[in-house]
Amino acid sequence: MIRPVDARAAIEQAKARGDRAFFERALDETRGVKALLQTLEQLGRLPADFDPAPLMRLATHPHDEVRMQAVKALARLENPALLPFYRERLAQEQATLVRRELASAVGRLRAPEAIPTLTDLLHDPDPKVVLQAVRGLLCFGEQATVQDALRDLATHPNELVRHAVQRALAPRHATTPTRPHTHSPDALKNLMVCGDVLQVLRHVLDESVHLTFTSPPYYNARDYTLYPSYEAYLDFLTQVFREVHRITKEGRFFVLNTSPVLIPRMSRQHASKRYAIPFDIHPRIIELGFEFIDDIIWVKPAPSARNRNGGFYQHRKPLGYKANSVVEYVMVYRKATDRLIDWNMRQYPEAVVEASRVLNEYEPTNLWQIAPAADPVHPAVFPLELASQVVRLYSYKGDLVFDPFAGRGTVGRAALLHERYYFLTEKEPAYFEYAQKVITEGSLLCPDYPPRFMRYEEFEQLALVEGIA
Ligand SMILES: C[S@@+](CC[C@H](N)C(=O)[O-])C[C@H]1O[C@@H](n2cnc3c(N)ncnc32)[C@H](O)[C@@H]1O
Repeated sequence: MIRPVDARAAIEQAKARGDRAFFERALDETRGVKALLQTLEQLGRLPADFDPAPLMRLATHPHDEVRMQAVKALARLENPALLPFYRERLAQEQATLVRRELASAVGRLRAPEAIPTLTDLLHDPDPKVVLQAVRGLLCFGEQATVQDALRDLATHPNELVRHAVQRALAPRHATTPTRPHTHSPDALKNLMVCGDVLQVLRHVLDESVHLTFTSPPYYNARDYTLYPSYEAYLDFLTQVFREVHRITKEGRFFVLNTSPVLIPRMSRQHASKRYAIPFDIHPRIIELGFEFIDDIIWVKPAPSARNRNGGFYQHRKPLGYKANSVVEYVMVYRKATDRLIDWNMRQYPEAVVEASRVLNEYEPTNLWQIAPAADPVHPAVFPLELASQVVRLYSYKGDLVFDPFAGRGTVGRAALLHERYYFLTEKEPAYFEYAQKVITEGSLLCPDYPPRFMRYEEFEQLALVEGIA
């Protein structure tokens, strides 16, 4: 049996020698599918004078995967002479995976004579084929006919196609932000305000914070907040998160910790009610202009869960089972932008990037096992470890981290611990006062921006007199 490394070496040597006979044998359609796929996957870059004939034969092989890999290899030749062949294959080919490769191969030709084929493909029923065609046509985006063809897709049923077209037709980012991306207002650095978050945020400028991490009130499940209805609660969160979106810098993250809550039954004659907060708030967050990035599950040790299956344990009757909940959701969103995340990373000087690297252990999966925290004063805090992970994974040193529902200020402590700045709001004076103690205890004080704690009225004065920029 030929080992894959030996096979790869043999292919490289044959390419170097221009050995056509070798490839006729290696890509002979009478070989088994496994052997053909192995060879096709190892072909790598091909010289411009590579004879396409054996690959063209394999592009009509009965096995879908072989046809797909053969077209993929042909596409790397970027040979305009292959356009009639691609056109013929597109007319015959049924397998959508192969059609996508064919569309990509036509696009990679970057040849004006490919434009009619690409334009036809804009009507393909497979959105991925359409996307490949859009990508291919972008090389000719200056041409009026191409622009017209793309404009026709503005109402395409597929959202990725609509987005790609909008992006292609929109003017390029002509301006860079007025303030550097790394900048945040000095007046907000290491500041906690006691007041209603919506009132406070009225004074905060657009694009002021780099990261928001928060755990909002749990509807009416705890006694520190009351809402007239679940709808009113969701509406309130939506208002706050609209503001979070506004004050978040381009392409930066909003991380939200919530979990379903249980409102206990009124009496034995009534059922209890569970509200799926993370799932109900999610579509509203997307609607506000955040992009969904990750669903992280925070798992707590089993004994920390409230026991809900005592009854079931006794009677064991199906339908009566209720799971003990040991998880909460840590949903990760990004303020939607056309810029890739690399753009955000490139905004930082090399020294900051170096200092912010996550060098110690981190959890590579979306299952974070962290023990819950209990607090003598606040009934619903999250653990410092959770806030620390979020802060170090989703911000750079010197960034401004916001928590609109700050409680005892766990996010503030995590920010100081990792050399970020915090900006916090909390409406309950008792928790606000307690947070002053929690944040300033130990040796975490930041010498350039010592922690400040203000009532809303003082903050309003500061904002009106000095402005927040
Ligand atoms: C789940 S707790 C957050 C606890 C926090 N993560 C911690 O570790 O301490 C939610 C907090 O939001 C506060 N809150 C509720 N409504 C608010 C509002 N409109 N403005 C500011 N804070 C509010 C509550 O008083 C409560 O302390």
